[in-house]
Amino acid sequence: MIPRHKIILMVSITLLVVSCTTTTKEKPKSYPPVRGLIAQKAMVVSARKEASKIGADIMKKGGNAFDAMIATEMALAVSYPFAGSLGGGGFMVYRKHTGETGALDYREKAPLAASKNMYLDEKGNPIPDKSTIGALAIGVPGTVAGLFAVHNKFGSLSIDEILSPVIHLAEKGFIVTEKQKARFDAYRDLFVDVNRDTIVWAKAYKTGDTIKNKTLAKTLKRIILNGKDEFYKGETGKKLVKRIQDHGGIITMEDLSKYEAKWRAPIQFTYRDLSIISMSPPSSGGVCLAQIMKMIEPYPISKYRHNQCKTIQVITEAERRAYADRSFYLGDPDFTNIPIDTLLSKAYLSGRMDDFTFDEATDSSAINCGLITGYESDETTHYSIIDPFGNAVSATVTLNGAYGSKLYVPEVGTFLNNEMDDFSTKPGIPNMFGLIGAAANSIAPEKRMLSSMTPTIVEKSGKLWMSVGTPGGSTIITSVLQTILNVKEFGMTMQDAVNAPRFHHQWLPDVIVFEPNSFDHQLLDSLRAKGYHSSEEQSRILGKVDGILVLPDGTLEGGADKRGDDTAVGF
Ligand code: DON
Repeated sequence: MIPRHKIILMVSITLLVVSCTTTTKEKPKSYPPVRGLIAQKAMVVSARKEASKIGADIMKKGGNAFDAMIATEMALAVSYPFAGSLGGGGFMVYRKHTGETGALDYREKAPLAASKNMYLDEKGNPIPDKSTIGALAIGVPGTVAGLFAVHNKFGSLSIDEILSPVIHLAEKGFIVTEKQKARFDAYRDLFVDVNRDTIVWAKAYKTGDTIKNKTLAKTLKRIILNGKDEFYKGETGKKLVKRIQDHGGIITMEDLSKYEAKWRAPIQFTYRDLSIISMSPPSSGGVCLAQIMKMIEPYPISKYRHNQCKTIQVITEAERRAYADRSFYLGDPDFTNIPIDTLLSKAYLSGRMDDFTFDEATDSSAINCGLITGYESDETTHYSIIDPFGNAVSATVTLNGAYGSKLYVPEVGTFLNNEMDDFSTKPGIPNMFGLIGAAANSIAPEKRMLSSMTPTIVEKSGKLWMSVGTPGGSTIITSVLQTILNVKEFGMTMQDAVNAPRFHHQWLPDVIVFEPNSFDHQLLDSLRAKGYHSSEEQSRILGKVDGILVLPDGTLEGGADKRGDDTAVGF
């Protein structure tokens, strides 16, 4: 038998080991700060060096950030088919040098023939893969409409001048990186299955090979000649619709011709001395980011320190509550009445954290969406751009999953998205990112599916300070959050803020996902002792953040995520 005083001693030691206070008293490891690329005037940070360079060159030629945006996004369609395409959609937030801000929604839409239960069997159960793989998973693409909307409003160079270097890249080819080769290998069999034949991307590429896309070059040439209508009403559209329908899809020429990108008012809110401008619905990004940051603001997390127990608790609890609201209240604002003012109000958000204590985790099953009284009637890619005039662009674009639906249009040279999976195919049933939705995000003809994309621009004391964003499905919002906090609260450089290990909680499943092998085990034990469930899934990359920070002397620092081939190019 163990004597009583020994038991007391053992229990005390255990408590000491697992308590947050002990963990936070330890001095965190410190490394010399790593700075990203510094540029004097302008910069593009994107998932591929070729795309960043083409965007930067457009600005060297005298183009602005909006011209560079079109070139960068199309260069990603050439060199990063994993997520870049003509067959997807996206969101863009901008801040002009005058301080004017705005947002563009070029999100995909459900086709006219779509219906609420289209992915369910006769018993009402979701049919595996139906919303994620193949022609039925495709939403009406928004990319080309989005880029023309930007050009009409803000373009300073001609479409010809902007797209010519992209066409050159498509004709000359891009070099396959090691990471890219691994992705082609992983999806080869599925490409052949879905396309019922081999496609150019199914070849066994080696690192260092050059891939040309002459078909895409020809498509871009037709787009230069005929504008947006080439894609939505012309030869390109017809080729696309034929391919989709031949593979069992429901998108028609009428769907394409009805598509329009929409200018939206961004979500704007303050966090200490920062003013944050982020994407509004149909993305949940801005609303969720605002809710989380407003719930965190009363806590002195810089004192709790980066990635220490109390900081992780506050951030996790705020995330849990915001994602619960996301799943209930958010959807396409053209179809759903979203109580944005209430969801972002101080009274509502301070009440939301009332039941949080540092002693133990809140149980997600005890959290629902907050009560609102008087209800008001695996792929994406991000790039950030700042031009020499002081205009900033933050854009996140996607095919949804890796290579989207995997359906490729050989006659056009692009993959098509599987964005339909971002709808709630059945209330309470998680999508491919484990996100749960309700009626607000149910499928309806011409409705836009809810997104997590969070292209964001931050002002500090009224001046442009940061342009930031990331892919990562449901983890997008929390990765953008941590990157901003890393610079603001923990004094990191832009590059360190991007590199720092991240964690994520999304209400359900009730688990904090930590980047593998990046967090101290004693820290994870302390959190478990308080009732937090955690996982270090090997496969999980929490975002791939690309950002630009304006330094106090006006120069620009790029943060290009080392988790990918992301690169900053500037001058
Ligand atoms: O719009 C969304 O939230 C998703 N379709 C984004 C997908 C994504 O980020 C995949 N990348 N890892």
